[in-house]
Amino acid sequence: MIPQWDELFRRQGAVRYEEMHAILARSWEECHRVLVDGGILAVNVGDAMRTTEGEFRLWPNHADVTFACRRIGFRPLPYILWKKPTNRPNAFLGSGFLPPNAYVTLDCEFILLFRKGSIRQFPRSDPGRYQSRFTKAERDHWFSQVWEDVRGVRQRSADGRSGAFPPEIPERLIRMFSVTGDTVLDPFAGTGTTLWAAARLGRRAIGVEIDGERAAELTRRLAAMDPGARRPPAPASPGGRPPRRRRA
Ligand SMILES: C[S@@+](CC[C@H](N)C(=O)[O-])C[C@H]1O[C@@H](n2cnc3c(N)ncnc32)[C@H](O)[C@@H]1O
Repeated sequence: MIPQWDELFRRQGAVRYEEMHAILARSWEECHRVLVDGGILAVNVGDAMRTTEGEFRLWPNHADVTFACRRIGFRPLPYILWKKPTNRPNAFLGSGFLPPNAYVTLDCEFILLFRKGSIRQFPRSDPGRYQSRFTKAERDHWFSQVWEDVRGVRQRSADGRSGAFPPEIPERLIRMFSVTGDTVLDPFAGTGTTLWAAARLGRRAIGVEIDGERAAELTRRLAAMDPGARRPPAPASPGGRPPRRRRA
């Protein structure tokens, strides 16, 4: 649905939208298999707009992921809408000022949340759980449905766009839905933002990455990762040169 991933899905045998979701569903199934009872699956996904066979339409990835996860046995929970701050608030598509052929701007991504089974049980006064406590201000902020304060990440990796999300996204989710000492799994590891955030927050982490070159780059980056740093190291840029800094 996003041209950047077309070839990757083609290599996994998917050309059509439904086939892509069938491939993704295999990963959700594995997540369900390995999660502890009461464990949480968080899926950051955006819907896609594409013109196919001359017709513009929305491809509702969030609905199809939710449907697949329900079928697998996950319980859907209230989700988060990640509305990235934009410098172009009035960007819209379609036909100017005449109804009915203009389109609503697609400016939110979803963070879908699912639980395996019933709420997770802990021994009374579990130290890992109490160590992982968040503040009232953090709770009020993080557990509101629309996140409007997290900017997207400038896309760059050895082979072009990486699809990386900013560290604030996995950091919040890890603090909201796991406790110190837990193991966090990212089945789509990419540049390793989740793995870095998990290490920084005293969790163990496992990443799965299907693309050999990305996995090799990730292994190199993991060796250089400093969980004490405030941000993960920048991915290599095309040609191995360090990414140019943007002026503030
Ligand atoms: C959107 S990126 C994830 C980026 C990551 N969140 C980050 O911050 O860097 C999706 C990643 O999933 C990988 N991928 C796609 N299909 C996969 C599959 N079936 N199994 C494992 N990884 C897959 C892609 O190669 C890509 O690196």
